Amino acid sequence: MKKLIGVLTGGGDCPGLNAVIRAIVRKGIDSYGYTFVGIKDGWKGLLEMDTMHLDKDAIRGTLHLGGTLLGSSRTNPAKSPETLKLAVKNYRAMGLDALIAIGGDDTLGVAAKLSSQGINVVGVPKTIDNDLNGTDMTFGFITAVETATDAIDKLHSTAESHHRAMVVEVMGRHAGWIATYAGIAGGGDVVLIPEVPIDIVDVCKLINQRKAMGRVYSIVVVAEGCKFKEVGELKTVSGKKDEFGHAQLGGIGSILAREIEKRTGIETRATILGHVQRGGTPSAFDRVLSTRYGIAAIDFVHRGEFGMMTGLQGMDIVPIELKVAAEKTRTVDMDLYNIAKIFFG
Ligand code: F6P
Repeated sequence: MKKLIGVLTGGGDCPGLNAVIRAIVRKGIDSYGYTFVGIKDGWKGLLEMDTMHLDKDAIRGTLHLGGTLLGSSRTNPAKSPETLKLAVKNYRAMGLDALIAIGGDDTLGVAAKLSSQGINVVGVPKTIDNDLNGTDMTFGFITAVETATDAIDKLHSTAESHHRAMVVEVMGRHAGWIATYAGIAGGGDVVLIPEVPIDIVDVCKLINQRKAMGRVYSIVVVAEGCKFKEVGELKTVSGKKDEFGHAQLGGIGSILAREIEKRTGIETRATILGHVQRGGTPSAFDRVLSTRYGIAAIDFVHRGEFGMMTGLQGMDIVPIELKVAAEKTRTVDMDLYNIAKIFFG
């Protein structure tokens, strides 16, 4: 009998998800003769047995499309022993031989728990934040960096015309990878990341220094997860938390802009890029990385390498234990951040 493989995408969406799904299905059918079932909206679909057809027709023409054809959610089956048991029960009831979970630390953390319950799971690391442990890069990250860099490029001209400081808030809940990459690529005059608390006195000093040197504008890149040194609290949109306990972040850019204007007297504006960074067509780099991840994932299934995720190490994709992904956040490499700092002020 043909083996049945389930595929789901969980957590925040990200450019390249469809390219991963396409690669899994294409190689799975052509090389291994598998059949597939799409599990809708992440773990929610497994808990509710909500599925969709996933064959070559379903994936045709999706390589360049943003979002995920399977839908996504932040449902957490590990929130109680009952829901975890239900996920295991449904996996068996659906007659699955294996499950491929494409997601970030939350989704892969659940995958690790299901694996320890005897489920055949393979994970694929996804997040624009690039903060997943055990892989050198997640797909979707470079596309988000391209979007943020493009925004910074555009803000340069209007900042210069109006002699303003511009604060650009980018995503990055626990780690400032997007801020660091886009800051370097876009020539940010100050780049602020969650790993280093904001010293507002230093930030204003750098902006004033620029003014004194006749540079009439400044670009400040700030990650949404940044905190001020003195206050040390995250800026959230509301008190509401998702099933994994995360609050919706956002707003540090506006507070920072007000503070810069108050302290330097330089007119300052804030731009919050938000979900624009998660949408749209994946870059060529991400299409290739996503395709390689998808091919590796279905190869892991074929070889019976379960409880593993596809991790990029250097130029190679290798099996990494799923639990490694959920162990800790992969924070910004300080050597890279120090390169961004060379161009401050
Ligand atoms: O996927 C990660 C992320 O992009 C974070 O940077 C951000 O804080 C979060 O998702 C936003 O998620 P939501 O779509 O639930 O608002």
